[in-house]
Amino acid sequence: MDGADVERIKEQVAHCPSGALSYISHSAVVADDKTETDVSTVVEAMKNGPLMVYGNVTVKDSAGNETRKNKVTAFCRCGASGNKPFCDGTHVRIGFKD
Ligand code: FES
Repeated sequence: MDGADVERIKEQVAHCPSGALSYISHSAVVADDKTETDVSTVVEAMKNGPLMVYGNVTVKDSAGNETRKNKVTAFCRCGASGNKPFCDGTHVRIGFKD
């Protein structure tokens, strides 16, 4: 990361298949122990990979449990993740193409 420009780092974070990498912009607002970004939510289908959601989202499972995700979240698009609805990188191993 040393020496990389901001856009390059953001690009790398966006392509992290598991969503483990994340960043907070300088314009982020911290309130009530939650981090909120000041950008709109953006959804992007990655070629041969997950569905990326940029922004703050609440994911609710079938049992009603809620998980709050901030910054960048990768959702499985291949159907093979062991951590649905999130991508765990399995799409690479199975050669998912779409
Ligand atoms: S898209 Fe990554 S595990 Fe399914």
